[in-house]
Formats: sequence, C-alpha cells, structure tokens
Amino acid sequence: MADVDLRNRENLLKPQTCSRCILIITCLTAVLLMIFSIQTLIIPSLISSDVKINATFAHTCTGKCRLVLVESIPVGMQFNSSVGHPSIYQVWQVLLSEAQSSVDIASFYWTLTNEDTHTHEPTASWGEKILQDLVELSGKISVRIAVNTPQNKQQQRDLQMLISAGADVRDVNMQDLTSGVLHTKFWVVDKKHIYIGSANMDWRSLTQVKELGAVVYDCECLADDLQKIFEAYWFLGNSKTIPAPWPSQYATDFNKDTPMQLPINGTDSRVYLSSAPPSLCAEGRTPDLQAILSIINDAQQFVYIAVMNYLPTIEYWADIDTELRRVAFEKNIHVCLLISCWDSTSAIMFSFLRSLASVQDSKSGLDIQVKIFIVPSSPSQKQIPFARVNHNKYMVTDRVAYIGTSNWSGDYFLNTAGSALVVNQTSASSSESTVKDQLQAVFERDWNSSYSTPIKHNSNLEDICRV
Ligand SMILES: *[C@@H]1O[C@H](CO)[C@@H](O)[C@H](O)[C@H]1NC(C)=O
Ligand SMILES: *[C@@H]1O[C@H](CO)[C@@H](O)[C@H](O)[C@H]1NC(C)=O
Ligand SMILES: *[C@@H]1O[C@H](CO)[C@@H](O)[C@H](O)[C@H]1NC(C)=O
Ligand SMILES: *[C@@H]1O[C@H](CO)[C@@H](O)[C@H](O)[C@H]1NC(C)=O
Ligand SMILES: *[C@@H]1O[C@H](CO)[C@@H](O)[C@H](O)[C@H]1NC(C)=O
Ligand SMILES: *[C@@H]1O[C@H](CO)[C@@H](O)[C@H](O)[C@H]1NC(C)=O
Repeated sequence: MADVDLRNRENLLKPQTCSRCILIITCLTAVLLMIFSIQTLIIPSLISSDVKINATFAHTCTGKCRLVLVESIPVGMQFNSSVGHPSIYQVWQVLLSEAQSSVDIASFYWTLTNEDTHTHEPTASWGEKILQDLVELSGKISVRIAVNTPQNKQQQRDLQMLISAGADVRDVNMQDLTSGVLHTKFWVVDKKHIYIGSANMDWRSLTQVKELGAVVYDCECLADDLQKIFEAYWFLGNSKTIPAPWPSQYATDFNKDTPMQLPINGTDSRVYLSSAPPSLCAEGRTPDLQAILSIINDAQQFVYIAVMNYLPTIEYWADIDTELRRVAFEKNIHVCLLISCWDSTSAIMFSFLRSLASVQDSKSGLDIQVKIFIVPSSPSQKQIPFARVNHNKYMVTDRVAYIGTSNWSGDYFLNTAGSALVVNQTSASSSESTVKDQLQAVFERDWNSSYSTPIKHNSNLEDICRV
C-alpha cells in the first residue's frame, strides 16, 4: 500500500546516506501516513489515484459488501422456477429511503410518469412513486443527475420536477461529444451503495420490461470507483470536449489486470468496473469491449449471454462474434445467446443469429446455440410503446459474472456511453454462494422457459417474433 510509494520516494533520495535524511524520511513517512489515514476515513473520493492506496481501499470494505441481484419481471409473466430476486422497484425504494447525504444517478432518459404513452396503465404508479421519493429527497440531500441531453419535452418533465425540488441536473450532450448517447444506468448512494443494470429511469422498466441489475450495499471502495465514472459524466455535462487524457482524479487502479480484491457476502472476490467508449476511460479503466473479450476468453466450460440486440455490423462488434466462434472451436466452450425481439427488432439481426446458431457439430463438440426470448403481451399491454421486451444485458461464464448497461451492438463500443460491473469469484470454495451461480440460475431459468424459442437455420423473424 502506501509504503510501496514511500519506498519509491526513498529510492529517489538514496544517494546521500546521512542520518538527517533518515530522520526526515521517517518524519515524512509518519506525516504522510497520518494524512492518508485521515483522508481515507473522511473523504475517500478525493484521494487522487496517483497515490497508490489500493490495499487501503480494500481494507475499508472488508467483510461488508453485500451484492444482491435485482430484476424486473413484466406483469403477467410466470416462471416454473424458484429462482427469483428482489424487484428493482423494491430495491430503488430501499436505496432512496436509506439515503442520508447523496444520490448520484447516471441515466439515459426519464419517463417515470406515464405522460408519454397516452395509455392509462395502472402499473405506471410504481414509477411515479420513485419519482416522488426522489423529489422529496431533492430538497433534503444532494441529488445529482447526469442525463443524456433530452430529445423531447416529455423527457424533460420529470427532470423539471426534480430541478424545482432542488436536484442538480446536467445534460450530457453525447451526440456532440461522440455522436452517441449516454446509455449508462447506475446509482451511487451515500458514496457507499451502488445500483447498476439495464433498467432506465422509465416506469416501464419497473413493470413492463424485463430487466436485470445488481445492487451492492455498504461497499465504499466500489462506490468510490463508480463515482469516478459518474464524475466524468458530470464533467462532460459542462464541457464541449472530452479531456484527453482525463485528469488524474478520474484514473483508477482497478481493472481487468489488477481488480479490486474484496469479500462480497464474505466470499473473496475480484471486482472491477469497465466503461465505454474508450474516450471516456481515464487511465487504468478497462474499456468495456476489452472486459467482454477477456471474460469470453477466460471461460473454461460455458459462456451464457443475455442481451437485447445482436448486430455485429461494425468492426468492434466483429471482435466479439469472432471470439465466440473461436472459443467454441478451439476450447469447446458451450456458448448460449439469449436475444430479444420486439416490434423494433430488425430482420438483419436474424441473419447474423442464424449464422452463429449454425456453428454446431456434435462430433467435434462445436456448440453455439441461440434462443429468442419473447415477453408475451395481452392486447392492452401491446398498446404500450417500447415495452414487453427482455432488456437484460449480462453475461455469465463458469468463472465470472458481467452485469452491463448497454445493448451489444457495434456503435456501442464506438460512441455510446455505458459501463459494467465484473465479479470474479473463481477462488471461492464450492460451498460459498457466488454471484456467478445466481446469475447462471437466472439465465437457465429464462433459457429453459417456454418464453424462449431456439433459432434454427430456417427460422425467420416473422415466425418467432410476430406472435
Ligand atoms: C496494489 O497495487 C500494486 C501495484 O499497483 C500491486 O502490486 C498490489 O498487489 C496491489 N495490492 C492489492 C491488495 O491489490
Ligand atoms: C478471475 O480471477 C482469476 C484469479 O482468481 C484469474 O486468473 C482470471 O484471469 C480472472 N478472470 C477474469 C475474466 O478476469
Ligand atoms: C439500445 O437500446 C435502446 C433501448 O434501451 C434503444 O433505444 C437504442 O436504439 C439501442 N441502441 C442500439 C445501438 O441498438
Ligand atoms: C448476499 O446477501 C444477501 C442478503 O444479505 C442475499 O440476498 C444475496 O443473495 C447474497 N448474495 C450472494 C451473491 O450470495
Ligand atoms: C436447462 O436445460 C438444459 C437442457 O436443455 C439442461 O442441461 C439444464 O440443466 C437445464 N437447466 C435448468 C436449470 O433446468
Ligand atoms: C410451466 O410449465 C407448464 C407445464 O409444463 C408449461 O405448459 C408452461 O409453458 C411452463 N411455463 C414456462 C414459463 O416455462
């Protein structure tokens, strides 16, 4: 920890070995150690990352971090399975009721009230409740919201309410900055709890769209690192350009090569946060695409992917497509993709999916399978625009859990801002409960349910999606 750095300083001073130097160094060491320990106690987020104190961070989290998977299961869906997790609605309410000093939210758009659809959906009340809770908090504690520059008036209504109540809102003009959008969805509460996942700040994300995320409670070190990504968006909300390089306070020590080591629910874990696009990654941050590729490459038995879209149409995406075929062929990894379809799904996606699903050969053990997950709708549910779809964005291998915020389509890796939480508990003993096991169970529940239909070489979009 700190002494690694101090040792470097000592090396710099080495040439003169006089007793006065040693005295000065000893005093300096004591003073620095004092400053460090005071800083870690009081203002962890202000510690600049050019001071290497990773072990200190891990220390502040020892034994406390608890990770809970959270889901939104659209009303009317029923699985024949005991696998289930707290609802995102429930957990957002808990986070807001526990908040003492700050709530920071990175978001794509805001439609928590059902003003946009001209339907009278009673289930919209959950979104309205969350907005109301946030409005009440905005007068009392610091509420900061980074949002992709709103596209229309309807998307500004929730935000106007929050601003009037005292929240700080910054529009991030990703269109101008990267020709993309801020697609990230995460919360940092009291600089110690985090939520990250697929749900937008949209009432439909609580009751009409299938979502998956994770909340991590009492985890200052992880919250501190996610805070850095938030602060980058916050900065961009006031900037016409992206800093290159990013100043050192945005840098991180935690990435795929040197993950944060901390216990989660008491289980030794290696954890990091990835970010996209690369221009938003400060020094040390693993770009999301690199995280995804390294996780696929690290698998020893299987790679399960649940994402909404699969469109390998831009060069970066081809990297993932190639990597999936490579591990299936070279390492006999069992690859399963669970993709979604809804009204906006393009027929082209099916060509690519059929191509992947044809990578099958039992003799050589080649095994890539693709299924389409459909959220059924009643006639009145069909009237709700942009709903009734599986919006999950995660991957689980026999070793690692990856929970992200973005569709896996090519433009994402070039210009769409997103981020992901990577949890590696390969060192856990088999009796311990792991995030990977829980996420795998969610995947298998969905994969084996009657909501999923396998893609075959002759499947087409109309047959499977337009039911
Ligand atoms: C802290 O970081 C240094 C180098 O950056 C590394 O050598 C050391 O193993 C890390 N310690 C922990 C506990 O992660
Ligand atoms: C997971 O952690 C193990 C060490 O416990 C490491 O060897 C492996 O590379 C990590 N996997 C990923 C995908 O980071
Ligand atoms: C990603 O998904 C969102 C819905 O959450 C959609 O509006 C957007 O167009 C998608 N982006 C791409 C690149 O597919
Ligand atoms: C962590 O503990 C909470 C209860 O505090 C539990 O709900 C959750 O499933 C646990 N997570 C894991 C990965 O074991
Ligand atoms: C899902 O089905 C596959 C076979 O189709 C089976 O191997 C697997 O064990 C099933 N998983 C669960 C959780 O039922
Ligand atoms: C639950 O089981 C019943 C009876 O086997 C089956 O008809 C139904 O489709 C199953 N539902 C799901 C969501 O898998």
